[in-house]
Amino acid sequence: MIRVENLHKHFGGFRAVDGASLEIATGSITGLIGPNGAGKSTLFNVIAGVHKPTSGRVTMDGEDITGLPPHELFHKGLLRTFQIAHEFPTMTVRENLMMVPGGQSGETLWNAWFNRGQIAREEEALRKKADEVLEFLTITHLADEYAGNLSGGQKKLLELGRTMMVEAKIVFLDEVGAGVNRTLLNTIGDAIVRLNKERGYTFCVIEHDMDFIGRLCNPVIVMAEGKVLAEGSPEEVLANEAVIEAYLGTGLKNKIKAEEALESQRHETHGAQPGLGDEAGKGGAA
Ligand SMILES: Nc1ncnc2c1ncn2[C@@H]1O[C@H](COP(=O)(O)OP(=O)(O)O)[C@@H](O)[C@H]1O
Ligand SMILES: [Mg+2]
Repeated sequence: MIRVENLHKHFGGFRAVDGASLEIATGSITGLIGPNGAGKSTLFNVIAGVHKPTSGRVTMDGEDITGLPPHELFHKGLLRTFQIAHEFPTMTVRENLMMVPGGQSGETLWNAWFNRGQIAREEEALRKKADEVLEFLTITHLADEYAGNLSGGQKKLLELGRTMMVEAKIVFLDEVGAGVNRTLLNTIGDAIVRLNKERGYTFCVIEHDMDFIGRLCNPVIVMAEGKVLAEGSPEEVLANEAVIEAYLGTGLKNKIKAEEALESQRHETHGAQPGLGDEAGKGGAA
């Protein structure tokens, strides 16, 4: 569905995205992970038309969409949410949802005077749709709450809800789980899976919570230093040496290895079996 070819985004001399190539398959929930500063959000911003790339190409279903502005991508069904939620704080949750679709008849003065019946009908339909979205997200009880009063996690749900007010095809979610408690994160995860299965949404999800990524995403793409480092199932990428290195840095990895070696030596001298990582882990956590 989305193909990114040799994409670069430089800020001055700094290569935030440095020749990234990847594909997001139709119908997938693709995970995008990587250490802070890897260029994940910048990549999203370029795909979603917030930044123009320095070079490279983005296509959607074969059509070149490189550098198109966000509203044109929106009409093609490509949506993104932000790392920091963008709600209208002094409007209610329902009103926030009703704000999303463009081109309502009420927006022109002529229509406001002469087409009141039609406007009322459209508003009613929008309201109904907003209420369906709220029910889907299990936050009907928040319909009349000011969006500014929501918790961080509830705001993320609202962001997801906004993508449901239009006919989205692909949704880019930037750190939906950041600052969200476990229960709400599960609600968000469930909503993503249902949108994927029931409405055919394709997702690309940036997230640091590996449980969340492991439960939802396949494949997982790993970025480091502006490039794609690895791609595969969650198990595959987590077992990948280069990925571990990118996350931990070589120094830290060596330190862990040294500590493991020391630990197994200690076990040997005490006559215990070395290398039973599982048991050692359980003992440590208890
Ligand atoms: N608008 C910008 N101007 C200059 N540098 C930027 C800008 N946006 C991001 N960067 C830099 O690009 C790098 C990648 O950032 P980002 O894409 O946000 O990484 P990630 O989302 O993977 O943590 C960071 O070093 C960041 O400081
Ligand atoms: Mg980011």
